[in-house]
Amino acid sequence: MSDILVKIDGKDVEAREGMTILEAAQSAGISIPTLCHHEKLEPFGGCRLCIVKVQVGDWSKHVVSCVYTVEEDLIVTTRSEKIDQIRKMILELQLAHAPDSPELLAFAEEYGADKDRFEKEASFCIHCGLCVRYCDEVKKKNAVGFVDRGIRKEISFIPEVAARECWNCKECFELCPTEALQAAYVLAESLISATPSFKSEK
Ligand code: SF4
Ligand code: FES
Repeated sequence: MSDILVKIDGKDVEAREGMTILEAAQSAGISIPTLCHHEKLEPFGGCRLCIVKVQVGDWSKHVVSCVYTVEEDLIVTTRSEKIDQIRKMILELQLAHAPDSPELLAFAEEYGADKDRFEKEASFCIHCGLCVRYCDEVKKKNAVGFVDRGIRKEISFIPEVAARECWNCKECFELCPTEALQAAYVLAESLISATPSFKSEK
């Protein structure tokens, strides 16, 4: 694969063909905030916090850097007033769901986001999908999935699978940006423990 030269925040970066802007930036030590990205998982592009501006010649646009792949002569800006405003809004919306998430609060401080701007709908899950995708793509177990749609969408452990697979794994816990997964697991665990047929499969 050939190298592609891009400019990120004024710095020349040699990226490999097929790399995303996020990967190219990270390889050059340039940090872009993410909530739904994980290096072991396929690009997802769900949270949009990693938005950046790209420019080639006369045209420019804002793109999701964890999905957008590098092109020759691309000029990337990872921080601007507009980018910060977009990230601030995303964080304020997410904080309505998970107001106590340390990760969100740290980003909120950086981008001046007001955690009380929107009415609280504390589901404690921001739908980043990290737990669901990790269990699918890395563990290949599909013990956790999304149920329902739209604003009612939430994660749920599949009791039959969770009873068999989760006890000795729990690798998804540390991925969750809101730390809600652990609570969900504890809930699932208590439900499973209360059901004799699942208990015997443990
Ligand atoms: S429980 Fe956590 S890791 Fe799973 S989708 Fe929700 S926020 Fe993401
Ligand atoms: S990290 Fe890129 S969209 Fe979430």
